[in-house]
Amino acid sequence: MNDAYWERIGPSVGTRRPRADAPSDAPRLSLNGDWRFRLSPTTAGTGEEFLADDVDDAQWDAIAVPSHWVLEEITPLAGGPARSLRGDAEGPLYTNTALPIPLDPPRVPHENPTGDYRLAFDVPEGFGTHAVLRFRGVDSCAKAWLNGHELGHWTGSRLPAEFDVTVRPGRNVLCVRVHRWSIGTYLEDQDQWWLPGIFRDVDLLARPAAAIDDHHVHADFDPATGLGTLRVDVSVGDGSAARIAVPELSLDLDAGETASVPVHPWSADAPRLYRGTLSTRDETIELAIGFRRIEIADGVLLANGRPLRFRGVNRHEHHPRTGRTLDRATMVRDIELMKQHNIDAVRTSHYPPHPEFLSLCDEYGLWVVDECDLETHGFIYAGWQGNPPDEPEWYPMLAERLERMVHRDKNHPSVVMWSMANESGAGRGFEVLRESILSIDGSRPILYERDPSYRDSDLYAVMYPSLEALELIGRGDEPRPDGVSDDDDARRRTLPFVLVEYAHAMGNGPGSLQDYERIFDAHPRLSGGFIWEWIDHGFDRPDLPGERVMHGGDVDGYRPNGGRYCLDGLLFADRTPSPALAEVAKAFEPVRLTIDGGDLVLRNQRHARDTADLRVTCTLDRDGERLAQAELPMPAALAGGESRCALPTFDTEAAQGGEVWLTVEARTRDDAPWAAAGHVVAWAQHRMPDLELPAAPARAAPPPARTVTRRPSGDDGIALGGALFDRDSGRLLELGGAPVEGPWLDLFRAPTENDRGQGGRNDLAAVWTAVGLDRLVHRTERVTLTGESLEVVTRTGAAAHPHRVEHTASWRAIDGGLELTMRVEFKGPWSPTPHRARDIVVPRLGSRWRLPAGYTRVEWFGHGPGETYVDSIEGSRVGRYAADIDDLAVPYPTPQENGNRSRTRWLALEGLGVPALRIEGAPLIDVTARRHTSEQLADARSPLELRDSGHVWLNLDQRQQGLGSASVGPALPEQYRVPLEPAEWTIRLLA
Ligand code: GAL
Repeated sequence: MNDAYWERIGPSVGTRRPRADAPSDAPRLSLNGDWRFRLSPTTAGTGEEFLADDVDDAQWDAIAVPSHWVLEEITPLAGGPARSLRGDAEGPLYTNTALPIPLDPPRVPHENPTGDYRLAFDVPEGFGTHAVLRFRGVDSCAKAWLNGHELGHWTGSRLPAEFDVTVRPGRNVLCVRVHRWSIGTYLEDQDQWWLPGIFRDVDLLARPAAAIDDHHVHADFDPATGLGTLRVDVSVGDGSAARIAVPELSLDLDAGETASVPVHPWSADAPRLYRGTLSTRDETIELAIGFRRIEIADGVLLANGRPLRFRGVNRHEHHPRTGRTLDRATMVRDIELMKQHNIDAVRTSHYPPHPEFLSLCDEYGLWVVDECDLETHGFIYAGWQGNPPDEPEWYPMLAERLERMVHRDKNHPSVVMWSMANESGAGRGFEVLRESILSIDGSRPILYERDPSYRDSDLYAVMYPSLEALELIGRGDEPRPDGVSDDDDARRRTLPFVLVEYAHAMGNGPGSLQDYERIFDAHPRLSGGFIWEWIDHGFDRPDLPGERVMHGGDVDGYRPNGGRYCLDGLLFADRTPSPALAEVAKAFEPVRLTIDGGDLVLRNQRHARDTADLRVTCTLDRDGERLAQAELPMPAALAGGESRCALPTFDTEAAQGGEVWLTVEARTRDDAPWAAAGHVVAWAQHRMPDLELPAAPARAAPPPARTVTRRPSGDDGIALGGALFDRDSGRLLELGGAPVEGPWLDLFRAPTENDRGQGGRNDLAAVWTAVGLDRLVHRTERVTLTGESLEVVTRTGAAAHPHRVEHTASWRAIDGGLELTMRVEFKGPWSPTPHRARDIVVPRLGSRWRLPAGYTRVEWFGHGPGETYVDSIEGSRVGRYAADIDDLAVPYPTPQENGNRSRTRWLALEGLGVPALRIEGAPLIDVTARRHTSEQLADARSPLELRDSGHVWLNLDQRQQGLGSASVGPALPEQYRVPLEPAEWTIRLLA
C-alpha cells in the first residue's frame, strides 16, 4: 500500500530538530481527549482514504488519547459488543528478554496490529497559523497527517516527536497511524509489557514569529566559591532578542550572557530552585534553575564537590489500569512515597519518563539517571549477531534517540547522568552515541553498564553482584572481565562505580538491603545503587476480584512469555507498599542515630542539608508499655557531620523488670511537600541493659490466672500440666480444653520467588522438594512420662531418602501450662548427598501446630508490625503489636511464604469459644499463623485458590532462612541459611 516505513532503519522523517520541553505562555491547544479509532489486524488494507476531511468515521470506535489501545475497550468495526483485549494475544503482551517478533531485522510480521486515529479539532481565532504539533509518546511507530498533508513518521516510543505545521482557523483534521510492531521494536526490548498506542499527550503549540525554538540552561555551581554561574543559550525563530530574568538573584541577562552570583546549590535533599523567565517579545518560558556541578574526581562521583551517593530505585512508568499513561497525581504519589521512604534517586529504567516527572524531581528533590529508550536485549538470541549498537547502518537512528532525550531533558537539574541504554550488548556504536551526547551536553557523566570494556562509560557499573563481589569492587580489587584489554582494564579501575540494579524485589523480598548499604558506606568509590524495582507491573482484574492482578502468564497461550517476572516491585501494582518498603526506608536513612555511652549520636549522611529541620525524641518502653518520653536537645549537624547530646536520665527503678527499650526518632519539624510535619526520617532502638541498667528478668510476666481443669491420664491419653497428649505419637492433643495439636517438626516453607532462583540457578526450592521437605513423615520412637515431665523421641524423614531428623520433645508442667524443649539432630547423609551434587538446604527449622478455627486475634511482643525475616528485619521495631490472624499475611499476587514475625518474645491468641492461649519463646521464636498450611500455600497458583482449611496453622520456629533476591540476584548468603546443625529451643504454652 505504501513504503514500509515502519521497517526502515533510520531516524525520524519530517520531525523538527529536538529541543527542550518547557512550560511556555504561547497558546497551547491540548489535543488529548476522545479521538476516533479503528484497529486493523495487519498493515495491509489500511489505505489512506481515512485522511480525507469528510471521511465518515461515525462507525469508528472512540478512544481516549492518551492511552494504550490494548488496555481500552474496543468495539469491533464489524459490529458486536465492545470487548477488552486483556488476556488475549492481541492485547497487552509481556516478555522479559525475548522479542515478540522474529529476530529478522528490519522486517516485522504481516500480522501487525495497526491503529488509525482521527481527530477533528477547532483552532481558535488568534492562535496563529504556524504551530508545532508535539507527540510526547507513541508506541511504537507512527505516521501523521494534518489536513491530508503527510507530516512524517517516527519511532522512539518514549521520546518526543515534533512537527512544524500550518493550521487553519476553525476545523482541522489530524490523522495518525500507529503500528504495534516496527523497526523500533528491535530497539525497545525492555523487560516490560508491549503496549501500543498514543500513550502520552498530544499538543498543538502556537509558534509566534519570535517563538523560542530551543534553550539550554547552563547553571553551574562552584563549591569552592559558593558562586552559581548562569548562561542560557537561546535560539529564536526570527532571530530576535531574548532576555533572561531571575528576580530572586537580581539577574537580567541577554541570551548567551554569563553571570556569577552567590547561590544555594541544588541537591536532592535541598532542591533549591530559582524561578525565572526567558522571554522574547512573543513568548515567555518559565525557568526552574538549579545550580549544581556533577563531576568525577579521583575516582569518586561528586555533586557540588561532595560525594554523590544514590539511595535509589529503578522506576518504570506503570499504572494498573492505564499502563504507561500516567497522570500527574500518580507521578506525585510515586515521588511522595519515595521521599517518605528515604529514596533519593531514580534510574528511569529503561526510557525517559514523562517530562512532568522530571519537573517534579527538580522540585521535590531526586537525583535522576535519565536512561534512553534503547534496549536490544533480543539480539542475545542471535549471539549478538547484528546487534544495532555494533552495526553502522543503525547508528544515526540510535544517535537520534539519544539526542531526543538529551535535548528534551537537558535543563533539569535533577538529571545528573545520562544512561545511553540498558542491556544492549557491546558495540562501537556507543562511541558514536557518546559523541552525540557530548555535542549537546558535556556537563553530566555518561553511563553504559553492559560493555565490559566500559570504554564509552564514565562510570563502572554492574547489576546484581553478590555482597562479596561488591566488596571487591569497593576496594578496587574486582576480577578482570574476559576479553578486556590492559588499557581498558586499567581505566575501569579508576572509575567510580554505580550499582544500576540490585535487590530484586520480586514477591517476598529482597533481603540484605542493609548489607549493601554497609558496603556502600565503607568505600568512596561506590556511589550507591538502584533497587530493582519500584512497582509491580500488574493490571487490574475486575473480572476476578481477589485475584489481585493480571501478569504476563495470564495471556492465554502466548509465547514467549515473561510470566510473573513483571511483578517485582517494592509497591504492589495498586501502589500499596509491600513490606520491603519499610526495610528500604530504614536502610536508606540519611541520618544515623546511635548510642555512645550515655550520649545519643546523630550522624548526618545527607548530601547537603543540615539537620536543623529535624527534632529528636525518645521514648522508653517496658514490654511494650510506655514508661517515659522526652524531647532531646540535639544540636543540628552539618551534612557529613555529627552532633550528640546526653540521653535523659530515666528513673531506673521504674525501668526494672521485663524488656526495656529506648527508641529514638528524628522527625521533621515542618510540613514538607512530600510529608506532613512529624514524619520519621530515622530511628534507632536500644535495649536498656546495653545502657547498664539493671538486667531485665528473662521471662515475661505470667498470663492472667485462669482455672485449669486437671484430668488424669487414662485410655484417652496422657495428662500433663492441664493438657492431654496422645499415647502413641506423644503429640499434644488438647490444651486448656481446646484441641491444640502439635508439634510436627517442620522443615518446609512455601517457596518464595526468590527461593526459586532464576532459570535453574540458585533454585533452593527445587532442592527442598527433591529431598522431600514438603512431604515429611514422622515416626515416634518413644514416649516416656516421668512425674511432671514427658519425653517424646521422634524420627522425621521423607520417602526414598536416607536423611532424617531425630528430635526429642521434652515437656514439663509449669505454673499455668507447659514448657517444651525441642532438640533436633540432622542424621544421615544430608550434605552432600551421595545421589545429588548439591548441598541440601532447609528453609525452616521449627514446629507446626494445628489450632481450632475459633482463634482470630493475636497479640505479640517482638518485631513488627510487618513481616520480618533474618535478612529483612532492621526496618522493624521491637514492640507490642496486635492484629487479626488473617491480617498477618501479606497478599503477594503469587502465593508464597509470607507473614513471618521473627524474634518474637511472646504471643497471645484469642477468639470466640476458645481459651486464651499464650506462647512464650525462651527467649525468641519465629511465628507464622494462618488458615492454610505451607503446602497449600505452595500449591496455590493464585490467591483465589487459597482456601480456609478450617484450622489455624501455627508455626513456632527456631529459625527460618532469609529472603535474598536470587530470583535475579545472587545466591542467598550463607549467613542467612539454616545450618544443618544440632539445635535446641524452648517455648512455653500457657492456657
Ligand atoms: C535486568 C534488567 C531489568 C529486569 C531485571 C529483572 O537484567 O535490566 O529490566 O529485567 O533484570 O527483573
